[in-house]
Amino acid sequence: MTVTRLCFGTSTFAAGRLIPDKDSGPGIAALAAAVDAGIRMIHSNPKLQTQWAIREALSRVHEDVRIRHVVKVELPLGASEHEACELIHARLTQSAQNLGIDRVDAVTIEIDLKRTRDRALLVDVDALTAFYDFTAKQVASFGGQPTVFAYCHSPAHLDACLRTTQIGGFAAQYNPVEAWPGLYLDRIALSDRPFLAMAPLRRSLLVDTAAPTARDRLRSLRWVLGHPAVTAAVITISSSEHLLEVIDAAQHPLRLDQVRQHLEAWRHAPVPNQP
Ligand SMILES: NC(=O)c1ccc[n+]([C@@H]2O[C@H](COP(=O)([O-])OP(=O)(O)OC[C@H]3O[C@@H](n4cnc5c(N)ncnc54)[C@H](OP(=O)(O)O)[C@@H]3O)[C@@H](O)[C@H]2O)c1
Repeated sequence: MTVTRLCFGTSTFAAGRLIPDKDSGPGIAALAAAVDAGIRMIHSNPKLQTQWAIREALSRVHEDVRIRHVVKVELPLGASEHEACELIHARLTQSAQNLGIDRVDAVTIEIDLKRTRDRALLVDVDALTAFYDFTAKQVASFGGQPTVFAYCHSPAHLDACLRTTQIGGFAAQYNPVEAWPGLYLDRIALSDRPFLAMAPLRRSLLVDTAAPTARDRLRSLRWVLGHPAVTAAVITISSSEHLLEVIDAAQHPLRLDQVRQHLEAWRHAPVPNQP
């Protein structure tokens, strides 16, 4: 069995930059169990220093299993072409080394907000389009023909990368609170490109702890997966118990009309007045 609509997120599943003193054992066991259960996609970021634990987990699974590694590359908007190329190659080389792989299968390009000096560029759709276009070409030149996903912080970013065919797919935080990408899902489906929904539980804040069953507790994940344009939900799991609950929830997505009902409410929620 391949659990195609779940991607194992690794930001906090083991000790790394975000939780240095975490007990990594349960997360590593959960990742190995996830692969055994059929999950084949893993998202990682070399800056978060948990790729060591992915390698450890994968050393425990059957060597014939083919994992699809999606790795992150962060770049400031406004970087020179030379600087951008160096950063892309450095990050991809680092991920390949950390994971012990010859090539990555997919890359998420993210604008490094902290290191973007000219904030006006963040809402300049032409500059954003040029950024995604250029960085996607550079990633492609790294070899191995990875799919290039654009990680989008905002609607302007998603709009920009819908304009360039260099971008092979889209990624964004997407859950019932950060629902704006949902307003693009029909366009994404029409463009015939994948969408990765990150943080479907909003770092666990959207786990309904009062709900009577695990399926109800994970309703936010089921809402995310209720739209067919969501290729996979990228979720962090650090225990085998959570893994089983997540797989069950993923097999029971909400109906599309339930998804649309919330998206409509979201669309009509108050926004600040125009000046
Ligand atoms: N900028 C970016 O590229 C970006 C941004 C955000 C997220 N991401 C990616 O998306 C992944 C997921 O994001 P995230 O970790 O921020 O948020 P998330 O996946 O929405 O939430 C993860 C949290 O949910 C908990 N959880 C999982 N299954 C559960 C269950 N059955 N019952 C109760 N709690 C459960 C996890 O607990 P345990 O860990 O204890 O199991 C963890 O604390 C990240 O690992 C990363 O790969 C990328």
